[in-house]
Amino acid sequence: MPNKYCVANWKMNFNGQQGQDFFEVLNSKDLNKGQSQIILCPSYTSLFSIVGASKNSAISVGAQNVHYEDSGAFTGEISVKMLNEASVEFVIIGHSERRHVFGETDEMIHAKMLQSIQNGITPILCIGERLDERESGNTDKVLRAQLEVGLSDVKGEYIIAYEPVWAIGTGQSATSEMVVETHASIRSILTELNVSEKVSLLYGGSVSPQNASALAAVENVDGFLIGGASLDVDRFYSIYVNL
Ligand code: PGA
Repeated sequence: MPNKYCVANWKMNFNGQQGQDFFEVLNSKDLNKGQSQIILCPSYTSLFSIVGASKNSAISVGAQNVHYEDSGAFTGEISVKMLNEASVEFVIIGHSERRHVFGETDEMIHAKMLQSIQNGITPILCIGERLDERESGNTDKVLRAQLEVGLSDVKGEYIIAYEPVWAIGTGQSATSEMVVETHASIRSILTELNVSEKVSLLYGGSVSPQNASALAAVENVDGFLIGGASLDVDRFYSIYVNL
């Protein structure tokens, strides 16, 4: 069985104190109640403090992005070695905002996958189609291309998150039927690519306390990547409990 994960993607939100406050409230709750591993992904400037606070807790920490080179003239970027220094265990790679707002290509995402795994950080590879791609019947084609390039020659541990772009931050989650169908096609593409059945496949896109239990019940859903609802500790915890 794949492991289950409940991942908070805070994006460019929370200052250091707000992140700490969130962590402390979450950590004071019963974290044996859910069945998934919690991963908090704060901004770079909060990584050291949240990792420090999370030692001896059930909560893990991830970064939201990373560069694919070790070092060099890449103003504003952070390398995997720097994430190693901060002792993060996970990193989100290829989030739709990275792809569509910052122009990341499948090739760049692939390089980031290799670089993270080589340096002992577990990547969470995000894939997903835009609305026009779904409406023109190209969802499977888009996902296949993202997986084929992103996972080419990638060996080691990673997580995949299916996040339809049109569902992110819109309040309009994919329906359970869509997730059933799309996760099944992703699983079959993964089988063709010789990816182990143990690789976890998360869903992301407007996950909320209201839709979490229905989405969690879908076959092949091994957890959630949560944006907006991860900024409120009670909402996040309620999703975690439903997973
Ligand atoms: P959302 O974001 O939950 O606000 O839709 C999900 C994500 O961007 O990972």
